[in-house]
Amino acid sequence: MLSAVTAHAQVVPPAATATVTPLANGAEAHLGETLITVVALTDDILRVRVGRAGHLDEDASWAVSPAVRAQRVAVTATSDGFSTSALIVHLAADGRLTVTNRAGKIITADAEPLKLDGRSFTLKKAMPLAEHYFGMGDKTGTLDRRGYSYVDWNTDAFGFLSSSDPIYKSIPFFLGVGGDGGSYGIFLDNTWRTWFDFGHREENTLAIGGPDGPIDYYIITGPTTAEVVRRYTDLTGKAPLAPQWSLGYQQSRYSYMTADEVRQVANRLRADKIPTDVLWLDIDYQDRNRPFTVNTQSFPNLPGLISDLGGKGFKVFTITDLHVAHLPGQNYAPYDSGAAIDAFVHRRDGQTYVAPVWPGPSVFPDFTSAKVRDWWGGLFKGEVNMGVAGAWNDMNEPAVFDTPTKTMPLDTVHYIASDDFATRNASHAELHNVYGMENARATYDGLRRLRPDERAQVMTRASYAGGQRYSVTWTGDNSATWDHLRLSVQQIINLGLSGFSYSAADVSGFAGGPSADLLTRWFEIGAFYPIFRDHSAKGTPRVEPWVDGPVHEAIRRHFIEERYKLLPYLYGLAELNSRTGDPILRPVFYDYPQALTMSCDQSMTFTLGKSLLVAPPPRPESPQSYDVCLPAGGWFDYWTGKRAGTPQAATEGPIQSATQATGGARALGDTVSETPRLDTLPVFVRAGTILPRQAVVQSTADTPQGPLQLDIYPGPDCMGSLYFDDGHSMGFTRGQFFRQQIRCVTTPTGLKVTWNAPQGRYKPWWHDITVTVHGWTGAGKVTRSGRSLASHTDAAAETIAFELATAPGATTLEILK
Ligand code: GLC
Repeated sequence: MLSAVTAHAQVVPPAATATVTPLANGAEAHLGETLITVVALTDDILRVRVGRAGHLDEDASWAVSPAVRAQRVAVTATSDGFSTSALIVHLAADGRLTVTNRAGKIITADAEPLKLDGRSFTLKKAMPLAEHYFGMGDKTGTLDRRGYSYVDWNTDAFGFLSSSDPIYKSIPFFLGVGGDGGSYGIFLDNTWRTWFDFGHREENTLAIGGPDGPIDYYIITGPTTAEVVRRYTDLTGKAPLAPQWSLGYQQSRYSYMTADEVRQVANRLRADKIPTDVLWLDIDYQDRNRPFTVNTQSFPNLPGLISDLGGKGFKVFTITDLHVAHLPGQNYAPYDSGAAIDAFVHRRDGQTYVAPVWPGPSVFPDFTSAKVRDWWGGLFKGEVNMGVAGAWNDMNEPAVFDTPTKTMPLDTVHYIASDDFATRNASHAELHNVYGMENARATYDGLRRLRPDERAQVMTRASYAGGQRYSVTWTGDNSATWDHLRLSVQQIINLGLSGFSYSAADVSGFAGGPSADLLTRWFEIGAFYPIFRDHSAKGTPRVEPWVDGPVHEAIRRHFIEERYKLLPYLYGLAELNSRTGDPILRPVFYDYPQALTMSCDQSMTFTLGKSLLVAPPPRPESPQSYDVCLPAGGWFDYWTGKRAGTPQAATEGPIQSATQATGGARALGDTVSETPRLDTLPVFVRAGTILPRQAVVQSTADTPQGPLQLDIYPGPDCMGSLYFDDGHSMGFTRGQFFRQQIRCVTTPTGLKVTWNAPQGRYKPWWHDITVTVHGWTGAGKVTRSGRSLASHTDAAAETIAFELATAPGATTLEILK
């Protein structure tokens, strides 16, 4: 088996021969001075650690909590390793590691023995031809990482291109998808400047390395992609359930210069009936860009402004960058109180490190100290008292203006006093990549402490693996180009696979200025991003929804409204994400593995949950027709509600394995040809979906008028779920939620719809429900417990619809032909 793996790799002769010793939960191998341990945290998650001089590095992590690292599962020792109920681990005489499934299919295998050079290391893994690579956070390139190489080093990358690397975040985690042994992931828990080469330098070799730091990585097996992502978030943490308002439309700009300007924007949004939940204040609301200050000339009564906006259904997010203005002796409390506890990072000579950022000379909190994080979190008291809803932590790579590296020198001294790390000084080279995450953690924890019964939200630019526990994110300073529109989808998909379910790209592109058509397209696609925020740079053309005139505005409004209609579905996905780690926005192959081998250009296609497939033009600037490959099982057109596509002959398309479908759904995947039109965006609904929607509101502060709408698209495995709570408090953790599963089955006589008993104590806003069944032809009759309900069919729309006057408990309805 190993020979098959190594056939194409240059095997360096082993330096020594390993002796493999069993451990209760794994095995260890000694190769001269090198110690390799492999332990099973669960049957599907292995942790591999390498000790360079006979002993392992400190067992501590910024990403994986001690409780998770302490997980153990019993294993069965074998002659060259061990097995779990799901995996077999082999350690070869030269230390190479191979992991197979129980059927012996290789999941991942070292192509060469580990190479050590001083503190630096290189791991080489086999790269089967069929395998594709995803994840790595917001990295550029294309959707698939194969053929690219990346460096993890958080970087302020204004004006980045689709070839730029590194950019803002370092998430040293990738998924291998499409190999024989099923999907798997590798998470290298090393905060130094690591690198990942997916066959770029050396064909068909996956190389991973770093200059220093622990050789400590997790192999997370599936076999499905979804299982890998869920398990990765079991390791690094789930994102907390976001407040519902953060799923609404958000309006930002660098910069709204005065309170009056903000009021004008707010008034125009309401006057033009552009549903909006959040307004953002960038650094110009501050006094000379100093964090935790307000420019009282241009914002004379910020609490009053926030309260007035709140009355109109707007939340306000304010920026608070990490750099504290260096203002000793000037009654600037953030500096004085920080200096009093020695909160700032130091130069190697012991002086406080001072460098310019937005406020001019600035100092940098030591966020790797729990005491400093507590102090920082407490500084948000003023914002909380003003009624600010969320905090925006920007520039936290950290960005520094006057150095060629755009950040602080590598020998800058940080202090670690946190988690289960040994208390010690550490260099910037070690902590650079976690600095932004610990900044967001400090802010998040502060907001949660200051407002314990309110959900907190922090938007961060830089982060590390596990950052989703504390923050949502966006892709930084993109540009107003078609290329960036395309890139944004790929970045958001990969962020979702990397734990960050809540992410955004600046709608319109931050730098430059979009054409009217680009801006409109960006609104259409942005309306399906997990976080939907329009943001643009100072000095660029305005990009609020109304610019470019009423025709464009109407299209943009239409898509924003559609997002609000979908809020019950989106919020359900958010709640699901908080429990499972399933991203809100996903690559099609997440739920439909066959998508990996479909012939259409799917680089812009994504799903929202399992049920909605959004298929923008793969070249969004091009008017040329394009094909959308729909996974097998049947789909409906979201906009018309009618069945989409025509069945493919088995020989025509790449999908050869027919899924046995029921309910009239297609047994083979369909291909649909789309001709781009500026006012439309193809969206499809999986046959087998029960989709909850609501009436349009101007913000989530409004109660939707009318019934909850349930659209049933019959098909295989037909289901839907309802999740509601108050949208903002922590009440849901105490039973204040409403959850109900609904299923439907196609029967010889029609359709049976079953509501399970609802769970939780929350009473949702809706009382009655309108049910519309799609794909219905001919007459129909609806019965509940033997009694008929009024219904009406629409032959042109191919629907049958009826109302339920009260929320059903556990009940079954029959819709008969
Ligand atoms: C950075 C941010 C950008 C923000 C600007 C001013 O460039 O990425 O979003 O508007 O700083 O704060």
